[in-house]
Amino acid sequence: MNNKLTILSMVAVSIFIISCNNTKKEKANSDETATTKSYLGKPITHAFDAKIDSIISQMTLEEKSGMLHGTSMFTTAGVERLGVPELKMADGPLGVREEISRDSWAPAGLDNDFATYYPAGGGLSATWNTELAYKFGFSVGEESRARDKDVLLSPAINIIRTPLGGRTYEYFTEDPFLNKKLTVPFIVGLQENDVAACVKHYAANNQETNRDFVDVQIDERALREIYLPAFKAAVIEAKAFSMMGAYNKFRGEYLCENSHMLNDVLRDEWGFEGVVISDWAAVHTSVNSLKSGLDVEMGTPKPFNEFFLADPLIDSVKAGKISEAEIDKHVKRILQLMYTLKSMGGEERTKGSINTEAHFKDAYDIASESVVLLKNDKNLLPVNTSGIKTVAVIGNNALKKNALGGFGAGVKTKREVTPLEGLKNRLPESIKINYAEGYKETYAPKKEAIFGEVTQERAETIDVLDPKMLEEAITAAKNSDITIIFAGSNRDYETEASDRADLELPFGQVELIEKVLEVNPNTIVVMIAGAPFDINSIKEKSSALVWSWFNGSEGGNALADVLLGNVNPSGKLPWTMPKSLADSPAHATNSFPGDKIVSYDEGILVGYRWFDTKNVEPLYPFGYGLSYTTFDIKNAHTDKNEAYYSEDETIYISVDVENTGNMDGKEVVQLYATKEESKVERAAQELKGFKKVLVGEGQTATVTFTVPVKELAYYDIDKSTWMVESGAYDIKIGNSSRAIKSEVTINIK
Ligand code: BGC
Repeated sequence: MNNKLTILSMVAVSIFIISCNNTKKEKANSDETATTKSYLGKPITHAFDAKIDSIISQMTLEEKSGMLHGTSMFTTAGVERLGVPELKMADGPLGVREEISRDSWAPAGLDNDFATYYPAGGGLSATWNTELAYKFGFSVGEESRARDKDVLLSPAINIIRTPLGGRTYEYFTEDPFLNKKLTVPFIVGLQENDVAACVKHYAANNQETNRDFVDVQIDERALREIYLPAFKAAVIEAKAFSMMGAYNKFRGEYLCENSHMLNDVLRDEWGFEGVVISDWAAVHTSVNSLKSGLDVEMGTPKPFNEFFLADPLIDSVKAGKISEAEIDKHVKRILQLMYTLKSMGGEERTKGSINTEAHFKDAYDIASESVVLLKNDKNLLPVNTSGIKTVAVIGNNALKKNALGGFGAGVKTKREVTPLEGLKNRLPESIKINYAEGYKETYAPKKEAIFGEVTQERAETIDVLDPKMLEEAITAAKNSDITIIFAGSNRDYETEASDRADLELPFGQVELIEKVLEVNPNTIVVMIAGAPFDINSIKEKSSALVWSWFNGSEGGNALADVLLGNVNPSGKLPWTMPKSLADSPAHATNSFPGDKIVSYDEGILVGYRWFDTKNVEPLYPFGYGLSYTTFDIKNAHTDKNEAYYSEDETIYISVDVENTGNMDGKEVVQLYATKEESKVERAAQELKGFKKVLVGEGQTATVTFTVPVKELAYYDIDKSTWMVESGAYDIKIGNSSRAIKSEVTINIK
């Protein structure tokens, strides 16, 4: 415990209630005489409201209903005679999805719907770089406009509760602080292009198994501290324009008709003024869903006029079950959004750009900071190209493309540089590449995916190696100076609509890797995957281990640059890699996947909070990642070791980061807080700050964290509010959750 400053007297526990965040905005239209108000963070005039009211007053009930439901796969109806356009949406998290037919999931077959494929969520979060999150959002926002979209169904920010989650690759992290710090700049960048983010999937949608009906039970504290912070920050800090209601139930009610979550929490508590859009086919009623806070129903598989907010809603109005004034309220929200996005005409709207070199460069920048160096014991990395003549490249993943694949949204792209192509692009021509596929991606026959069904049968893999392919791989490895194996998974295996059965690496890869390591110890293993796998034996037997992601159009170039040392790796794991599945909290508590009900029995102890509190050794901890250089993190000190709680009170904590190696490099300095003595259950430590910093060889940089005291709060269930406990907090700074290098203690009064 270096530099630990005095622990001040432990006063009897007193608690500060964080003043009720009065986020409730002036309600649009509540004062007819006002000339300026704010809507979604932008000033608006009375004329704006009056114009919208006038348009609504001229609409028929049928026209209003058309605006509230899908009238094609990704649009709602406009009202041409009144100058109201369709609302045009597109997936998603990996970039702007190809055009889908208007009335089926079949691709529309266009030749102008190519887009940049950006790194999947896991890749972005592994950068731990908030500037890159903004860059990603802005870049994909420009592409959305170039494809004439109003709403991008992104970002996907559900917490990674289990490593088996089919969408782990798409989501950011297991930690709520990292989650919100990436979510906010992403949305801001995106929405600067006159396109709405649709933040998904609100909320507590943390598994694919039974996602169409499972009823999620979470205690209020875990909900507030773990599952909601990024959604809340999306609304309050980023002013997200739209939100996607999830498929599942939460405390007995479907999330698209959960009045508590939509009306009470999202709108009344957080002041959300935008549009709530359902996930595709996630709506179950007409009147109840509208009254509970949903605005737009999207999805499959019924004819569009049979959607709950189509003919059945019109019938309900006629039968007096819901008033037309209630319908108008939802239509108004959509029109307000359209004006904000400038889609109603009259104002110059961002035109955007797509497939540009600048955007491919954005994808490259993210990918190159996302690669995580897990092990480099014999300094095989970076590859010394002057010392070798031949490289064996082994693995199906050397060639595998991931822009499309599996169930769910991908991107049709003109550029996806594979790992093998990346190496060819970057290696000197004099070096010969001996490629062998080694293992094949094979599955047992499976039922055809059923149109409109939101969960799908899991793919069963065939995990036996082909002896001939194994032999070819061994020969290539024997005859080469070094070997690089590209292993892991892909987007057919890790996919929306089903969770994985276990952490096993599919297709016989472990055997392949072990046999190759036996014949060529100069073997670098590169895992390409979006979620944890059982790599215990690979960790033990290999001396060089790298983790990469479904990493976008430039993924192969970025990976090659890391392997060859053109880029010094700076990625950090955004989740814990367990030694065994049973060590992970949802599995240790036997509370995954549930049946009709899933109860999150681990409570607040999600991810590293569980491992650190229960003293379970992970295979690789949250926040872990090496560099080709080394860093010394020291001299933590604070501007004050005592602070009085107030809403705006902030503590500054600085620390020196010395680059003690032989190469410039970026380090992610992480700040965790511990409250040893508390009247409530506490995780051993919680991330409360991080900064990525470039430090030149031999240089020292001072990193300063700004920690608002209110970040130290816990959610008090009895009082239904956030509380900051008085007393000592240990502030621990390091470069992973298990590598704390310097500490200070502060006393909150
Ligand atoms: C997914 C959403 C997606 C929607 C439209 C759903 O199955 O859960 O994330 O935006 O489909 O493709």
